[in-house]
Amino acid sequence: MSNNKAIGLFDSGVGGLSVLNSLQNAFPTEEFIYIGDNQNAPWGNKSKETLHDLTQHIIQFLKQQDIKCLVIACNTTYSYLKEFIQSSIDVPIINLLDEACQDAISTSLTQRICVMATKGTISTHSHLDTIKSYHPSSLVLELSCSDLVQYIEDNSIDIPECQDKLRHYILELTKFKADTVIYACSHFPFLESSIRRYCSPELKTVNPAISVRHSLKNCLDIIGYGTHDLSKVTCYITGSKDKFLTFVTNYCSLHNYTIIEEKITPLVTRVIHSEHDITVRESIQLNSN
Ligand code: DGL
Repeated sequence: MSNNKAIGLFDSGVGGLSVLNSLQNAFPTEEFIYIGDNQNAPWGNKSKETLHDLTQHIIQFLKQQDIKCLVIACNTTYSYLKEFIQSSIDVPIINLLDEACQDAISTSLTQRICVMATKGTISTHSHLDTIKSYHPSSLVLELSCSDLVQYIEDNSIDIPECQDKLRHYILELTKFKADTVIYACSHFPFLESSIRRYCSPELKTVNPAISVRHSLKNCLDIIGYGTHDLSKVTCYITGSKDKFLTFVTNYCSLHNYTIIEEKITPLVTRVIHSEHDITVRESIQLNSN
């Protein structure tokens, strides 16, 4: 069965491009619509209420695009808002979580698995619970690494500050004796070559952007595949187009893509009360345009 409607994806910013890139390579006759809320990235430390509001705006926009299915290319949003998303849009929803957890279990020889994710994702224990539901005796280290996201958004992966933080996280998972790590934040596959510098050569990495191909295939078997001669991507981004384009050029192999600035979400401002207190007060500002 053919179905030439687009596949929708969204994330806080450039992270979901790991997923988009993987899916465009694997499904070369599909059309994709990607939303990156980079004016509000990172999302990983934002409250559930704020993410609810931002996600609502994005889903409203995607509904107008008449997509055939929706890939939640953000673990934080899915972990917090699974039920809300499912009840907000009447198309199949694909997540990065289930398939990646199963891949980690089948990849790991020791069942000592590290989950690298944002503070928000870790607070829900979504990966821990999923791994345990499939394989109760697995030991899971939940590593909250929210601070890495901004470096990726800023095209600053190679700066010493980011590399130092990354080295620290790798030390933690080495101490835990993890033999497998899940990149449970869609930004983190872009750190793969840096991570390889600091980890044991035996460490196995699970990239949910690859795992999710299986879920999408299962979905398209039911709802129908695109039959476009050339896959096409439209990226709608809420913040800087230049920064986004630089990232796409440096880290992705996307083809036939267009980037459009669109104020889909309101701007969230953050007031940080203390350096050591990552609880922040957030306020949603109305769009000026
Ligand atoms: N890439 C997203 C995730 O998978 C969000 C990261 C962020 O914006 O903090 O969780």
